[in-house]
Amino acid sequence: MNQYISDNKDRFVNELLDMLRIPSVSADPKFKQDVLRTAEFLAQKLTEAGADKVEICETAGYPIVYGEKIVDPSLPTVLVYGHYDVQPADPYELWNSPPFEPVIKDGKIYARGACDDKGQMYMHVKAFEVMMRNNALPCNVKFMIEGEEEVGSANLATFVKNNREKLKGDVILISDTGMLANDVPSITTGLRGMSYMEVEVTGPNRDLHSGLYGGAVANPINVLCQMIASMHDENYHITIPGFYDNVQELSQEERAEMARAPFSLDAYKKALDLGDVQGEAGYSTMERTSIRPTLDVNGIWGGYIGEGAKTVIPSKAFAKISMRLVPNQTSEEITEKFTKHFESIAPASVKVVVKPHHGGEPVVTPTDSVAYQAAAKAYEETFGVKPIPVRSGGSIPIVAMFKSELGLDSVLMGFGLDSDAIHSPNEHFGLFNFMKGIETIPLFFKHYAEMSR
Ligand code: BES
Ligand code: MN
Ligand code: MN
Repeated sequence: MNQYISDNKDRFVNELLDMLRIPSVSADPKFKQDVLRTAEFLAQKLTEAGADKVEICETAGYPIVYGEKIVDPSLPTVLVYGHYDVQPADPYELWNSPPFEPVIKDGKIYARGACDDKGQMYMHVKAFEVMMRNNALPCNVKFMIEGEEEVGSANLATFVKNNREKLKGDVILISDTGMLANDVPSITTGLRGMSYMEVEVTGPNRDLHSGLYGGAVANPINVLCQMIASMHDENYHITIPGFYDNVQELSQEERAEMARAPFSLDAYKKALDLGDVQGEAGYSTMERTSIRPTLDVNGIWGGYIGEGAKTVIPSKAFAKISMRLVPNQTSEEITEKFTKHFESIAPASVKVVVKPHHGGEPVVTPTDSVAYQAAAKAYEETFGVKPIPVRSGGSIPIVAMFKSELGLDSVLMGFGLDSDAIHSPNEHFGLFNFMKGIETIPLFFKHYAEMSR
């Protein structure tokens, strides 16, 4: 198989570059045709790789690309999940090369989606091709690649509920996370959940001259800032009543185990150009970004932000606020607690409206499963060292949904790095990582099939 991989490396990369040229931004309706075109591209590639029953499954939103290869119904079935949509590329001016004109520089592919998730998802399509061409597909495989992950996967749950039979399998395999470093492979064993809110604060019923009214009526931006600031105390604990009620505390042993993963605070600060880090007292940076819940403002606006100065007390102020959740918080519970709290702290001088956006549940995946062991063995063979299990701070809400709807655990075999700048300008993915994925995935299939017997 390795011979086939090296013989076809350039074509594998070029195909990925072709897909990266299609701007499949799910958040912006302007790119609708491009998102649909990406689904077609993918369906074509799955067919060429040897998949049967390839189908572009319509949903109320963007379609799900399906394909399968059933070698023998008595063998286990791996369900591969990924997403072909990408985040918006804004701000364009901060890219060193255009986001949808991929370039390879210093061994890395630069483009929106290079890592999240086109590059990582395409490793599976190519790994499948490798196994097919070498008569080495040791068990069944089903692909389910969606186009709405970056906007909350609103239609995937319905698709899963309506297609239980079609999606019948034994384990979900996903490459949409990262690893610690290229020489420190790791397997993600947890993801945070999410409650995403939007708030609107209204002061006076119209914009006012700040000289005539300033000091006498509430400025909704000032009020919103105060309200937001009050949601963390001096120890950076979140002050929403009951917010931590269901948070699962880790034992000292578990925390000590976590602390063994290599991490340099100096390198971390340096990489982000930070004078210091900041976060919840009593927890390390690794813990703050994995096993602890957070509350962050993602955007805030209102008033005058044009050229020059305008003296005005705006009528309204807005913010988008997201909370990352950990077991056993639920997005429903936290959404409710946030809403109640935000309304209760609003002074009588303003009115507030709280609107929930999407949510998702946190998840922890087992490390004692056959699938995890198979993945660990595969990494060990291609990287030469045992992978470390690590809980990640990011969210893939469908992982908890697969567990609740299909009863299936996921294995999160990520090959990206935190430094790949996903969702940021100059997103990239190492050729090393792309090729390592294509080498490691067939080994997972091999060990999983063998160890399942
Ligand atoms: N692939 C990411 C999630 C991720 C990245 C998890 C790296 C772990 C490590 C995914 O595409 C993503 O961006 N998820 C969103 C949530 C979604 C509901 C918009 C996120 O985490 O913000
Ligand atoms: Mn992703
Ligand atoms: Mn993403």
